[in-house]
Amino acid sequence: MQQIFLGLFFLIQFFFVCADDIMQVVIPAAGLGTRFMPMTKSVPKEFVHIKDGTPSIEYVVREAADSGLTDVILVVSKGKQSLVEYFKIDHALNAFLETRGKLHYLEKLNELCLSISVRGVIQNAPLGTGHAVMCAREYITGDYFGVLYPDNPIVSDVPAMKQLIDVANMFDASVIAVQEVSEDLVSAYGVIAYEEQYAENVYRVTDVVEKPKLEDAPSNLAVIGRYVLSVDIFDSLEIIPLSLTGEYWLTDAIADLIRCGKPVLACRINGKLFDTGNPKNWFETVAYLHE
Ligand code: G1P
Repeated sequence: MQQIFLGLFFLIQFFFVCADDIMQVVIPAAGLGTRFMPMTKSVPKEFVHIKDGTPSIEYVVREAADSGLTDVILVVSKGKQSLVEYFKIDHALNAFLETRGKLHYLEKLNELCLSISVRGVIQNAPLGTGHAVMCAREYITGDYFGVLYPDNPIVSDVPAMKQLIDVANMFDASVIAVQEVSEDLVSAYGVIAYEEQYAENVYRVTDVVEKPKLEDAPSNLAVIGRYVLSVDIFDSLEIIPLSLTGEYWLTDAIADLIRCGKPVLACRINGKLFDTGNPKNWFETVAYLHE
């Protein structure tokens, strides 16, 4: 009997810890998309299609929704508000497609749109990922929130973001998604330094370095565009300096968070990582997914 009560207690406890849980995700999508120019002069790179007409932005928003993050904050520039519009139901288009028997083309997207709320926030200048996250500050309500970059879709059994959220809930800490990358790719990513392992695939992060040279890289565990961050990150974002590229990097703010003694973990994600951030890798991704 006592065991049943204890079991119930932990179940309720778990429910309440998770009830205050992480519902919001910030998706920085204000970049100029220089690697995809000239197309990106008119079309946001997040609209590059990945499979069956589905653009990369829909993939990552779906991952967020499938992970329970239903409050989506899309950080866009003034010229990229079509990304926000994409997630609004178009009743006239639905009605038209219905008369032609073609509504099935939009069915999955319509379902997604109904399951989330999407707010557009304008980033006025291309000042980097840290600045983009800062733009969302006034809308963040919980203790933790997700950050998801649109360039790295992951195909996995459990959504990658959900894997992070589970670790954040379990350890009450910020969590960075990482995967091992080969030596030639290390300098294309943020890379973590880590110490002891907390659990299977979970490590304590001691530093994060943005795009290090191979010889300076503290490991081969690369940051793959997903984070669960404590709201303490905003204090760090306030004080980090401009990077050499003239941007405020989220990576620098996370490094500051660690220096301030806040717990930051890394979770090695189970799943296949793709890159749609430049035309060559995008093409390889599309080819792979259509095989
Ligand atoms: C950004 C981050 C980097 C991360 C990468 C993942 O770089 O700054 O830390 O590893 O995304 O894709 P970007 O690819 O935007 O240059």
